[in-house]
Amino acid sequence: MTTALYRRYRPESFGEMIGQSQVTEPLMTALRSDRVGHAYLFSGPRGCGKTTSARILARCLNCAQGPTDTPCGTCESCVELGRGGSGSLDVVEIDAASHNGVDDARDLRERAVFAPARDRFKIFILDEAHMVTPQGFNALLKLVEEPPDHVKFIFATTEPEKVIGTIRSRTHHYPFRLVPPAAMLEYVEQLCTQEGVEVEPGVLSLVIRAGGGSPRDTLSLLDQLIAGSDPSAGSGAMLVTYARAVALLGYTHGELLDEVVDAFAASDAAAAFAAVDRVVQTGQDPRRFVDDLLERLRDLIVVAATGQGAAAVLRGVSAEDLARMKGQADAFGPARLSRVADLVIATLDDMTGATSPRLQLELMVARVLARGTDASAPAAAPGTVAAAPVPVERTATALVGAR
Ligand SMILES: Nc1ncnc2c1ncn2[C@@H]1O[C@H](COP(=O)(O)OP(=O)(O)O)[C@@H](O)[C@H]1O
Ligand SMILES: [Mg+2]
Ligand SMILES: [Zn+2]
Repeated sequence: MTTALYRRYRPESFGEMIGQSQVTEPLMTALRSDRVGHAYLFSGPRGCGKTTSARILARCLNCAQGPTDTPCGTCESCVELGRGGSGSLDVVEIDAASHNGVDDARDLRERAVFAPARDRFKIFILDEAHMVTPQGFNALLKLVEEPPDHVKFIFATTEPEKVIGTIRSRTHHYPFRLVPPAAMLEYVEQLCTQEGVEVEPGVLSLVIRAGGGSPRDTLSLLDQLIAGSDPSAGSGAMLVTYARAVALLGYTHGELLDEVVDAFAASDAAAAFAAVDRVVQTGQDPRRFVDDLLERLRDLIVVAATGQGAAAVLRGVSAEDLARMKGQADAFGPARLSRVADLVIATLDDMTGATSPRLQLELMVARVLARGTDASAPAAAPGTVAAAPVPVERTATALVGAR
């Protein structure tokens, strides 16, 4: 049994955190200049480093060399509060999901009276703080407002608006954010190197997309892919293949997207419908496919607009893929690309309705093919195209409406 990646790589200092400089920089400055508050509120989406940062802050505050912006890592407190540590008597982590009532608050009040056992501060970390009841918060109010000098509070929550205003206004509030793809890509690339894992091109972009900006979710997915991978024939290192990743994460295989896009570009109805049929036959969710198609069209729009500069925007895309996308973008032309993207967006919006997703998908193909020919007509200025009658679309609307 190996420990999960996200636990093995849990940051132990603010310097190791990625994508949260809006929080880590001011906190480090406050620690350096000895302007630490007595209560903090860490809010933001799940898996972005709130609990981790609360522990790091506690480590910084109670380090024997501290308070410091970078814990020494070797004193008793630092070791106990490190990744493999046993936890410290003076840092109390309370899971507010299960300790949320008045009695728990009273209990906490009693514990706060006592001086720290060994270290500088007695630090209470209230995780999932939105679960504390209003009565529980009210019982804490006085203490949070004017705690003894040796007490610090750190509240962590995904829903800061559920923390009652009187408590919130007594804290320094730090909002955490989803981590942008570039920072995440750099992080997982480095992590794969450290782990001695090889990944095929395109795998990490998929993982990052699926992780939705949460480092924890991203690492969990990567972990699962690594666990399900075989050693590579060449080096013997674990190799995460594109085919496995795309299947596990439920995305459309790049080759299938190429087929559809090429068919659209060439206005080849037979090929387009055949490709879409394969989407359905392989059991893939049509909505997911349309979403993937939209993502690809967006990439093509970027390529059409920026040429070679696209590499900087579409991170993690190989030169080979870029060249193929350039070919596809040229085959469409920028005006037609954005019109097709509009149609795809409209389909995606409609797909929440009752009409069968498969039917919606096929109607979308019909619309794209019809618009394709329309748009290639000379002197089709933007605006006139939208106003021009499109027979297939009307048929489509009638069909959908009749169901
Ligand atoms: N900003 C980040 N930088 C690096 N790793 C992170 C970051 N945020 C989360 N992680 C990873 O995700 C795991 C869970 O983070 P955690 O602090 O528990 O998230 P939260 O409390 O916001 O839900 C950590 O152990 C770490 O591996
Ligand atoms: Mg947490
Ligand atoms: Zn230390």
